[in-house]
Amino acid sequence: MRAVAKAQPNIALVKYWGKRDTRRNLPAVGSISITLSELYTLMSVELDPQLGADRLDVNGRDDADLLPRVSRCLDDVLGNSRTRARVASTTNFPVAAGLASSASAFAALVLAVTAAAGLSRDQGQLARVAGRASGSAARSLYGGFVELRNDGDDIAVASLLDGADWPLKVVIAITAAAPKPVGSGEAMEISRRTSPFYGRWVNEQDADLRAARRAICTRDFEKLATVAEHNCLKMHSVMWTSRPAVVYWNEATLACMQAIRQLQAEGVGVFFTIDAGPQVKAICLPEAEQAVCGTLAAVPGVTKTMISGLGSGAVLVDAA
Ligand code: DP6
Repeated sequence: MRAVAKAQPNIALVKYWGKRDTRRNLPAVGSISITLSELYTLMSVELDPQLGADRLDVNGRDDADLLPRVSRCLDDVLGNSRTRARVASTTNFPVAAGLASSASAFAALVLAVTAAAGLSRDQGQLARVAGRASGSAARSLYGGFVELRNDGDDIAVASLLDGADWPLKVVIAITAAAPKPVGSGEAMEISRRTSPFYGRWVNEQDADLRAARRAICTRDFEKLATVAEHNCLKMHSVMWTSRPAVVYWNEATLACMQAIRQLQAEGVGVFFTIDAGPQVKAICLPEAEQAVCGTLAAVPGVTKTMISGLGSGAVLVDAA
C-alpha cells in the first residue's frame, strides 16, 4: 500500500507550448526533451483506508495549492471511489521556477501510486496518465533523448537515444528563485487565444521536430544547437506577443544568453534553452562543461549554477 518513486525533470529542446484539448491536457504540438540525471523528485504514496481526505506534503510542508491537481491525478489512476492517499515529495532543486518540477513530480506520482495500488501498467500507459496531469511529465518517465508525439486522440512517448550514447551535459543558471508569475498551463491558453504567431508556431513544429530528431540520431551537435535555440526563441516570441504579454526573462536571463553566444563565437560547443521561467539551461559537449559553468557563474544576477548529465527516467525505489 506504499511505494516510493524517483523521477528527474526533463528539458525540452523542441518545446511543448499550447494545448489541443484542455480537458484531457493534450498538447497542440509534439516535443523532444532530454531527461536530467542529477536533479530529482522523490515521491512517496501511501494508500490509507483510515484517511478521510488526501494529504500532500512538499519538501516538509503541507501544500494545499497543489493538492487538487495531485488528487485529480490519483483519481485518474485509481478511479473516483478510491482509497485516500498520504503523498509526500522532496526535490533537490527549487520548485515552480521554470525547472520543470511538475514534470518530475507527476512522473514519480503516477509510478508510485500505480505500484502502491499493486496495478501493472506499461511505460506508455504511465506516460499518458502523467501527461494528463502535466504535459511535460509524460517525457520524464523515459531517459536520455525523448520524443512525445500526438498519436490519434492521445500521445505516444518514446526514447530516441540513450543518454549514455551521447552524454551531453546541462549547466543550469539560476537567476531567480521566486515562483513564476503565471503558470505554464494558463500562459499557453493566453498564447493560443491571443498571439498572432501561435498558428505559425504550431504549423512549423513538425519541421523542427524532424531536424532535431535527425541531429540527435546522427549526434550532430551544431544542427541540434541551431534548431533548439530557434525553437526556444520562437516559443518565447509567441509568449511575448500574447495579450497580456507573458515574459519570464529577467536581465540575467538575457546576459546568460549573450555569454553563451560569446562562448559559441570562441568555438565552445554549447547552446541555450529557456522554459517558463528566468533560468537558463546551457546544453554542452562534455569537454565544455567547466568553461560553460565558470562563464555562467560569473554573469551578474546568476545566484547559483547546477550541472547535470543525462538520466535514465523514472524508477521505483521502494514498494511495500
Ligand atoms: C515551457 O508541462 O508544465 O516547459 O501540461 O500545463 O502542466 P502543463 O504544462 P507543462 O509545460 C511545459 C512547458 C515548457 C516547454 C516544455 O517542457 O516542453
